[in-house]
Amino acid sequence: MVKLEFPKGFFWGAATSAHQVEGNNHNDWTEWEKENANRLAGEASRNNLPKHILDFYPDPLKPENYISGRACDHYNRFREDFDIAKSLNHNVHRFSIEWSRVEPEEGKWDEKEIEHYREVIRALREREIEPFVTLWHWTLPIWVAKQGGWENKKTIEDFARYVNKLVRSEGFVDVKFWITLNEPDDIYSIFSYFKGKYPPGKRSILKTAKVLKNLVAGHKTAYKAIHNSNPAAMVGFANNTIYFESRGLIAGIFKILANAFWNFWFLKKTLNHADFIGCNYYHHNVLRGLRYNQNKNEMITDMGWEIYPEGIYHVLKDLKKHNKPVYITENGIADSRDIHREKFIKEHLKWAHKAISEGVDVRGYFYWSLLDNFEWSEGFWPRFGLVEVDYKTMERRIRQSAYAYAKIAKENSLEV
Ligand code: FCB
Repeated sequence: MVKLEFPKGFFWGAATSAHQVEGNNHNDWTEWEKENANRLAGEASRNNLPKHILDFYPDPLKPENYISGRACDHYNRFREDFDIAKSLNHNVHRFSIEWSRVEPEEGKWDEKEIEHYREVIRALREREIEPFVTLWHWTLPIWVAKQGGWENKKTIEDFARYVNKLVRSEGFVDVKFWITLNEPDDIYSIFSYFKGKYPPGKRSILKTAKVLKNLVAGHKTAYKAIHNSNPAAMVGFANNTIYFESRGLIAGIFKILANAFWNFWFLKKTLNHADFIGCNYYHHNVLRGLRYNQNKNEMITDMGWEIYPEGIYHVLKDLKKHNKPVYITENGIADSRDIHREKFIKEHLKWAHKAISEGVDVRGYFYWSLLDNFEWSEGFWPRFGLVEVDYKTMERRIRQSAYAYAKIAKENSLEV
């Protein structure tokens, strides 16, 4: 038995995002859900989902599974949820602010909603849990979506105004850690504007390029706004990072390109406007010739994603050259039966520790997610939570794996 000690003051916690947990939002996603729920339910019925997934309520074959609705009712139950996080020894929590609540109409601030998030921050501080605040986790107010979302340059100014308003408001000024954008390039731009899988469901290289450019500008203006208000703030964005492996010469070239776009493009564009690097890690991708996703898939999650903990070591090592603190802003598993989660967390932490021991300045780990929640285009059936949510009663049940993670957090070390 070896004890792997993590650096002093290491952050241990979990992440959520507003739309996935709060309930009763009104934004571009809620509109899109209404239009797409039937289609997604139809697609799910062709996907041969295993029984342990089909057993769930809401049933993946029913359209209501794809409507965020009440979600986890975290908007009303955040204190109870933070009590759970506290009992699990979390000392940090990542959550996002819902722009559509704060500015439901252009230029009109909803002070009640700002007060709500002030309360959220206060509730975390009362429990000695450091808030890590995401300003944009994919959803847009309806008026922003109507003007073309991130396709429209005006959204950059609008986003800056929203960020300015928040960071200058009482209760927000002393928030130290800010994440401007969640997975802006690789997931959002690609899924929303290239693959057409997420709203607004477009498929255009030109639009993808435009959105990417505007998101870079959006990040930079937000970065400046936060620093103008709080020079001591630590600001970054959450980057979706994939560990690409290549087999053969052609795949080797493919890997260089894949890395350059997927893992480093946004990062390089914003490196002068980043106090830390946020690393979301879920995927390993084996390239063979010009084919991708040639993974062995020996172990997979309920989402069908390969479990490949070693990948986190490689992506962290690749970040070392930037000489910035790194936070693992997301890493997690959909595992409805909680049979792989404990091992998943431990293995990823073991590899993250190896990266730390080789000089990568990793300062925190956020498990995705604190709660089961609404998974974008999959709906409610994927169970990512340390805490199970019964969507009928909204009851919370702490999973066994959460206790294993709590022990690691308490001891700031991992036994392997
Ligand atoms: C990430 C998203 C997060 C969640 C996880 C499973 O890409 O940032 O909101 O959906 O995937």
